[in-house]
Amino acid sequence: MTLLVATEVSKSYADGEHSIDILQHVNLSLSAGEHVAIIGSSGSGKSTLLHILGGLDVPSSGTVIFQNHNLVTSSDTQNAKLRNTDIGFIYQFHHLLPEFNAMENVAMPLLIGGSSKSNAYAKAQQLLIDVGLGQRLKHFPNQLSGGERQRVAIARALINEPALLLADEPTGNLDDETGEEIYHLLDSLKTKYAFAAVVVTHDLRLAQKLDTQYRLIKGRLTQGSV
Ligand SMILES: Nc1ncnc2c1ncn2[C@@H]1O[C@H](COP(=O)(O)OP(=O)(O)OP(=O)(O)O)[C@@H](O)[C@H]1O
Ligand SMILES: [Mg+2]
Repeated sequence: MTLLVATEVSKSYADGEHSIDILQHVNLSLSAGEHVAIIGSSGSGKSTLLHILGGLDVPSSGTVIFQNHNLVTSSDTQNAKLRNTDIGFIYQFHHLLPEFNAMENVAMPLLIGGSSKSNAYAKAQQLLIDVGLGQRLKHFPNQLSGGERQRVAIARALINEPALLLADEPTGNLDDETGEEIYHLLDSLKTKYAFAAVVVTHDLRLAQKLDTQYRLIKGRLTQGSV
């Protein structure tokens, strides 16, 4: 089953009289449960593409269809609702809320969605156990290591059991070994939570562990081994 289809997606920014082309005619199709890697050098447009795929940004032209919703023409409110329930986002620098502990951070999307506290905290606790942090439920972000914070961010992204996980260099600021653990973790969680993923990375070795590899060069996306 096809989950996400981006067709002829282009993105340019006006720069005085000129325009800078960031993405050019990008096509990407993602099946349910498929995990794809996008690699590319700094500035090649990876984050821009990921934001467009998640409805956080709009392309200059082209369409993005996610589960029969056109993310380009839907309102910000509709897209925000979809992101809360069906799309999980992992940022390069985790973006955890410093004044909330691990369990509260993970529960936040459910609480925002109107879930009861008891349900949200029970699910958050289970997810933290699933990512190996059952002993760190009440720790605040500044009391966690970089890899642990990234695990909390993964738990938060999965709490609504989204069909799609978008991860922007989730291992970018971790050492090789911790980065590899995060990839193994995503792979093992896939069995329980059945999500498709688009993972942006600089790391060829980690990219090869996923089902499909794409390379973004100067705004053009090509599929193929890396
Ligand atoms: N709001 C904006 N206005 C103008 N140019 C922008 C804007 N946002 C991004 N860009 C430009 O788009 C290009 C791609 O940016 P993007 O963040 O997608 O790159 P990236 O591949 O994620 O890089 P990195 O690996 O460093 O995170 C960059 O050259 C950047 O300067
Ligand atoms: Mg980026």
